[in-house]
Amino acid sequence: MTGSLRALYNSYSILLLGFLFSICFDSAAAHVVSKPRSTASGRQRTSLNADWRFERFTSDPDGLSYEGLKPWVLPCANDFITGEKYERPSGAAPGANVSYVQSSFDDSAWEAVSLPHDWAISGTFDAPGVEGGQGRLPINGIGWYRRTLSMDAEVLQSGKSVFLDVDGAMSYAAVWLNGHLVGGWPYGYNSFRLDLTPYANAGENTLAIRLDNKLDSSRWYPGAGIYRNVWLVTVNPVHVGHWGTYVTTPSISEAEATVEMVLDLENKGNSSQHVEVVTEVFERDATTKQATGEAVAKFSAANTDVAGHSKKAVHGSVTVPNPKLWGPPPSQKPNEYVAISTVSVGGEAMDTYETVFGIRSVTYDPNQGVLINGERIYVQGSCNHHDLGALGAAFNTRAAERQIEILQEMGNNALRTSHNPPAPEFLDLADRYGLMVMDEIFDTWNFPKVENDFHRIFQEWHEPDLRSFMRRDRNHPSIISWSVGNELPEQRNSTGTETCRTLQDIAHEEDPTRQVTIGMNNANATTGIAAVIDIVGLNYQGEGKGDSWVSTFPSFKQEFPEKMIWSTESASALSTRGKYLFPITANKSAIVGGGPGEGGDPENSIVSSYDLYAPEWAASPDKVFEQQDRHPYVAGEFVWTGFDYIGEPTPYDNSSRSSYFGIIDLAGFKKDRFYLYQARWRPDLPMAHILPHWTWPEDRIGEITPVHVHTSGDEAELFVNGVSAGRQSRGKYDYRLRWDGVKYRPGNISVVSYKHGEEWATASQFTAGSAASLNVTADRTTITGDGYDLSFITVSVHDENGILVPMADDEISFEVSSGPGVVVATDNGDPTDMSPFPETTRKAFGGMALAIVRSEAGASGEIVVEAKAEGLSGGKVVLTAN
Ligand code: GAL
Repeated sequence: MTGSLRALYNSYSILLLGFLFSICFDSAAAHVVSKPRSTASGRQRTSLNADWRFERFTSDPDGLSYEGLKPWVLPCANDFITGEKYERPSGAAPGANVSYVQSSFDDSAWEAVSLPHDWAISGTFDAPGVEGGQGRLPINGIGWYRRTLSMDAEVLQSGKSVFLDVDGAMSYAAVWLNGHLVGGWPYGYNSFRLDLTPYANAGENTLAIRLDNKLDSSRWYPGAGIYRNVWLVTVNPVHVGHWGTYVTTPSISEAEATVEMVLDLENKGNSSQHVEVVTEVFERDATTKQATGEAVAKFSAANTDVAGHSKKAVHGSVTVPNPKLWGPPPSQKPNEYVAISTVSVGGEAMDTYETVFGIRSVTYDPNQGVLINGERIYVQGSCNHHDLGALGAAFNTRAAERQIEILQEMGNNALRTSHNPPAPEFLDLADRYGLMVMDEIFDTWNFPKVENDFHRIFQEWHEPDLRSFMRRDRNHPSIISWSVGNELPEQRNSTGTETCRTLQDIAHEEDPTRQVTIGMNNANATTGIAAVIDIVGLNYQGEGKGDSWVSTFPSFKQEFPEKMIWSTESASALSTRGKYLFPITANKSAIVGGGPGEGGDPENSIVSSYDLYAPEWAASPDKVFEQQDRHPYVAGEFVWTGFDYIGEPTPYDNSSRSSYFGIIDLAGFKKDRFYLYQARWRPDLPMAHILPHWTWPEDRIGEITPVHVHTSGDEAELFVNGVSAGRQSRGKYDYRLRWDGVKYRPGNISVVSYKHGEEWATASQFTAGSAASLNVTADRTTITGDGYDLSFITVSVHDENGILVPMADDEISFEVSSGPGVVVATDNGDPTDMSPFPETTRKAFGGMALAIVRSEAGASGEIVVEAKAEGLSGGKVVLTAN
């Protein structure tokens, strides 16, 4: 891209409207509208999560395959391709004779399930053919889901359209209604809509969905099943199209902001209609998720004719006075607005459509990094997979919210959705919490990483997947960049360069306001792809891989002085929470191995929690920090990873079930390095953290047991059993304080940290006695009785003085002893623990275990959760569902 075009992108000042047939409204001056806002009309959106029957097959149950279904599935991509449209074949569609699609089929022997549903997560960790990389759970197979749908005769006779909206189904979804193949969508991470209307009957209808999950379809645990929400949407013939609005905010000042909106009208009726669109803008209350107060602006009404069976876009512009901007905390606030559009024909409201958006600017500055609303925001980000630990891929809003809360406590202000589109609700949360998002779509393009990954369908599906993904997501203010790929095998050759250009061009068409990135681990500054991509995204090579300190930041900076550079993936440090191995490396970062000082214990599949170890392509956090600080033009980093995830248990792929990369373990418990990041990312928060624990067996007495301290202070003094072990201050590139010669004697270690000469924070560790009791706490004691809301219950094994017993591995049993709740899963963060997640007994690991309790739908009252372990006094916590 030329420098001048880049300048346009950089200043976020262009608005390309890639819509034919656009009708312009006049630009309307903002004014306060005193009449009450419109109430919803025409459109109904109901959850289809309840009352499904499900069966998984590991051998061919139906003779169907994607190849056979493809001609009927491809036309579903038509709204998202610019070339020749696919035509639905005229012959008989496949599957009509399969019994599972028939209304007459008796599915009463199938499992009763509700969505979101991950069929693999409750399994045992020994699924045939599923290696450690995919998490050993039974993700593979053909899964059939069935349920009935009632439809009003009146609705169908009035010419309404009935759509099925699937937020995510893993994978190769194909859908039948009353025995007719409606369509499908192969990429399991994307959301899609199918039009059920042509096959819908008044009364009972049978909906059947077939999924096909192959072995080796992913480098990690993909989950399996209809793992996100599913909706039934009913609209009048004239309505706002699917993901039918696009809002941008091309100019912003303190006094006013310009808000532009493109709205896609759709007329499914036979005759042309004269349509009026009125859109009002309101502030949005983050808690109630409702428009609040009076309208702050109103677009001029747009009037246009929409021919039968056609679409037309209208666009307009409005000024919002004194805009409340969206921006990341702590320096900014994530204010949201909602545009409520009313579509009318002949004065009668046909549709009401809400678009949530934020007013904010993003600037990609090659020297300063990301500016939000003109303020430099250093990217303190993490990469995360989509699984939610013991809940698997089944999306749960509260579980995702908890992750965001823990990340923000650490000072994490950005998240990369590695390496695929997230659940829509995740982006709603990111908007609400002010989390900046790199929204990523693909892990592979034309070439495979594993045998059955996306490369198999990339040619046909990259365009519809990318366009539909962006149309779904582009109104979210939290998204600051699109990522179109990660560590592509073809990143160094011309196929990679051209594919990158194609994808980025599509991204620019769909959203000219945001820059595009990819994660490059092997491309260098002279590789073609680097010249194409908007933002230079580097995986690991910026800090230098493994033992190398050679950074590629300078060469990219020199070659592309006008581009922003960031670390799309950094660190990949490894550790097992609460486990420490001796001796430790004297270096800042070391490659993990099994020898003395190498941080690994291959026999027990443990990596030392001193957090100094990484695989040969990666680095410790400390090394990453130093390289970022030595290259201050770098916009920041996305650490691999915030949370541990299922699968990819490097370096123990042959023995473990889940990763060691997380700053936070799979159960959501903080590893020591949480505080290393917090110290850097929240310099104003007085904090100190001291490691390791101080409860060692007798044979460690007198042995060297290094003590490390993470603090946002600049100096600290360590005391071992009350005696000073010396005061240290942090050098320019020191991110932790280390007392590597300390010898273990039972008692305590404590630290007093200082900032600018003043006492700042303290921390200590005490030698624990024998385990005596269970301490039970809940992250939330009041939850909603909706069948979705969760309380995360942590049990810590304490000695009689209330000190955590860090080696405790007591078997803890959890029970809801009364009330409308259920223990849905347990965990302890141990990557080697092979008891299935739904088990209600779980060994403590590092003295801790977790139970996840869900409310029952429609219930209220007290939920008593008890934890017991033999020989220890048990504990309980009382929750309230309302
Ligand atoms: C990267 C890759 C990630 C993950 C990570 C582990 O190369 O992009 O998906 O595999 O390595 O270190």
